[in-house]
Amino acid sequence: RLVNPRFRQKYHFMAPAGWLNDPNGLIQFGGQYHLFYQHNPYGSSWGPMHWGHAVSRDLVHWEHLPVALAPSEDYESGHGGCFSGSAVEKDGRLTLLYTGASTVGGEERQVQCLAQSTDGVVFEKYAGNPVLKRSGSRQSDFRDPKVWRHGNFWYMVIASQEQESGAALLYRSADLLHWRFISQLAGGSPQQGRMWECPDFFELGGTGVLLFSPVGFDNRKATYLTGRFDYDTGAFSAETLGETDWGFDFYAAQSFPDTQGRRIVIGWANGWDWMPWWNGFGPTQQDRWCGHMSLPREVTMCADGRLAFHPVSELQTLRTDAWRTESVTLHDSEPLALHAGDGIHFELLADFDLTASTSTQIRLLMRCSETEQTVLTCDLRQGELIFDRSASSPHDAGIKRCPLESAQQKKLRLHVFADTCSVEVFTDSGRTVLSSNLYPAAESTGIFLCADGGDAQLSCVETWGLA
Ligand code: FRU
Repeated sequence: RLVNPRFRQKYHFMAPAGWLNDPNGLIQFGGQYHLFYQHNPYGSSWGPMHWGHAVSRDLVHWEHLPVALAPSEDYESGHGGCFSGSAVEKDGRLTLLYTGASTVGGEERQVQCLAQSTDGVVFEKYAGNPVLKRSGSRQSDFRDPKVWRHGNFWYMVIASQEQESGAALLYRSADLLHWRFISQLAGGSPQQGRMWECPDFFELGGTGVLLFSPVGFDNRKATYLTGRFDYDTGAFSAETLGETDWGFDFYAAQSFPDTQGRRIVIGWANGWDWMPWWNGFGPTQQDRWCGHMSLPREVTMCADGRLAFHPVSELQTLRTDAWRTESVTLHDSEPLALHAGDGIHFELLADFDLTASTSTQIRLLMRCSETEQTVLTCDLRQGELIFDRSASSPHDAGIKRCPLESAQQKKLRLHVFADTCSVEVFTDSGRTVLSSNLYPAAESTGIFLCADGGDAQLSCVETWGLA
């Protein structure tokens, strides 16, 4: 067998084998969703970057297609390859804009390139590549082009480092081949990271949104800015800074609009600083694969400029084995055992009535056995959500904390998706999301809800196994 199946995900996208990082080129083209991704087909560590490729009709069931881009040119040689980028449709052709990354004499060079396909499967690199180089002598830290159409022009944001700070640069073109610098959209402050990766700009309800992945920024890995954007001047006045995801494992998110009018975001469900192999050899790498994508999330704009993320509704088609209980009082320190599918691959929706609760915290314990447990704590006094995977498995460690707005409100809803090696938590109506990977034993399947320091009123809990 090519890969060891023990930690393979059941309903999250993975490469057939080998290494996967950023989602690339997300687009609906020819009636299908296309997902490309940073991929090393030759090994389970990062290596010469290819673009893996898959298609789907529902964002949930994916069919693998042949690798779309492989390093073949000088501008993709050495420690590099075909780095992250995006897709647009031009004259009926599926057009990829990506970074050609190379090392020449130990020096990194990053340039923007174009490749096209008529059938959406076989891609041809443009003979005139690169279509954009960084001006000045420095050729590095200039990557991850995200392109979109507005009016008569194409626009592109590029990840960059300007004076030791991360930044997103805006360019414009009439033909995708000739690009003109418009403005520095955002960035330039050392407190917000020394480099920004994978910037993604779009408008939602008339408000500008910039997603980006800062490097070296207090472990923040998936951040957004929202504010007013002016296409005439390229000026973006960012008013709100938020977190796309607070977990250990969400990075390099990319968005795209679909024909249902939704804006969908998918992230790489890992991050460089938390990669297990960063500190040694990760549990799935010896199984000949590494990396999966987050669940597709629909993003919406809230009245206060913050974003909310919702698992796409198509995921409901995976539900099996429904289980539900209503109006239960969780008594102080008396855990309630839940049934949820096989205890590994499940969805859980728990609604609490906080007006009728006296507890100081509510805990959801997952993947439990005598020796392992993963704990999600809702601290109602401090208004904090705490994800603790320090006892998840011998491979995992660490605690993540983030604000829990619902603690100050009447109701608390936890929406959780668990797969073989991941947990994604949605709460605060999608304003707080936390995604993390864990590698418990297959025997660790217990799930419990627990109230501490008083009782908690559970209005309803629903669970499903996920097929
Ligand atoms: C983000 C990133 C991008 C780059 C790609 C290389 O995870 O570092 O900036 O294009 O991965 O694989």
